[in-house]
Amino acid sequence: MEMADFSGMANRVSGKGADAWEVHRIAQERRAAGADILILSIGEDVAARTPDHVVEACIESLNDGRHHYSHMIGQPNVRQAIVEHHTKLTGQDLTMDNCVVFAGAQNGLFAVSTCLVEAGDEVIAIEPYYSTYPATFTAGGAKMVTVVSKAENGFQPDIADIKAAITPRTKMVVINTPANPSGAVFEADLVKQIADLVREHDLWLLSDEVYSDFVFQGRHVSPASYMSVEEKCVVVSSLSKSHRMSGWRVGWAIGPQLLCETFERLALCMMYGMPMFTQDAAVAALSGPQTDTEEMVAEYGARARLVVEGLSNLPRFKVGAPKAGMFVMLDVRELETDGTTFAMRLLDQSGISTLPCGSFGEHFGGFVRMSLCAPEDKLSWACGEIAKLVKSWD
Ligand SMILES: Cc1ncc(COP(=O)(O)O)c(C=O)c1O
Repeated sequence: MEMADFSGMANRVSGKGADAWEVHRIAQERRAAGADILILSIGEDVAARTPDHVVEACIESLNDGRHHYSHMIGQPNVRQAIVEHHTKLTGQDLTMDNCVVFAGAQNGLFAVSTCLVEAGDEVIAIEPYYSTYPATFTAGGAKMVTVVSKAENGFQPDIADIKAAITPRTKMVVINTPANPSGAVFEADLVKQIADLVREHDLWLLSDEVYSDFVFQGRHVSPASYMSVEEKCVVVSSLSKSHRMSGWRVGWAIGPQLLCETFERLALCMMYGMPMFTQDAAVAALSGPQTDTEEMVAEYGARARLVVEGLSNLPRFKVGAPKAGMFVMLDVRELETDGTTFAMRLLDQSGISTLPCGSFGEHFGGFVRMSLCAPEDKLSWACGEIAKLVKSWD
């Protein structure tokens, strides 16, 4: 059978990107074969649990028989909780009609792409970007154009570069702050300038905010703080990171009512409603105590500081200082143009799996992403091993 026989969309979503996961795949294989491997290539702490009160709310919901078909765009209780959470973050005035529940932020991003862009359109995204963006935004035939946020500028994109990337074909700008993989939190001024720019050019703005509650330095500012909910701005977010709920698949999109009505029609033929019991759990996560989130974020902040300190002052090597999220970017450009070589040698030398950043944009092939999803003693050991590799590099 040949892919050529499949649709154009099937072919577009099968594009490159898989190569970046080669080191991770080999690491998994070696671990399965019994080797002692530290996986720092993905952003998930599999040992960490969803908060107990959230799990209990789900069990209670199932025991109450809430396991039938549900509302296409999400249960009213969870949409209300999401709206309240969003208003607290942004100050935006909105109602449940502006909120649709999706199977995680990724599903929300794909829905936005499906409903807003198509062949002939250009979508501006910031490099380094989340690795699913190319497939997500080009699936319907649109072209993704990137603007580089430089490590030297703390991965803050320059508004002049975004402006320069706008053409008559531009339909949408996508931002992701706090950013994966860079850990940057866009400055409030920049976010406002982006909101003003899209308004001036009558473009859509998609803001991916899955790390909004995961900031350990500075403050997350959403473009929704500067726009009315009926303007062309969609915020996509989820509970995957903030409440350790990646496997629950609860996310959402917030935007103009007409777009949400369109999402409803898409949801009808795509998901036919999300499970009620996961949505009940999401209500518990959003409206219950936030102590787990606060403790987790503080812990990641401490881990980030430890890694940045442990890897500073190494020859021909730089480490980015993240302000949010679960990752640290290692800049190995002076050692090697290809981060894959560095990541592979680290795996061979020490059994540490990291992720080469080629799949986050063509300008980031010389970077490697290291996850903070391991306890401090392991991260500290990993820093020592990385330092050993860097110092012995030839
Ligand atoms: C920037 C970014 N956007 C979206 C997603 C997808 O999140 P979800 O698990 O809610 O689909 C992720 C997951 O890692 C992410 O890092």
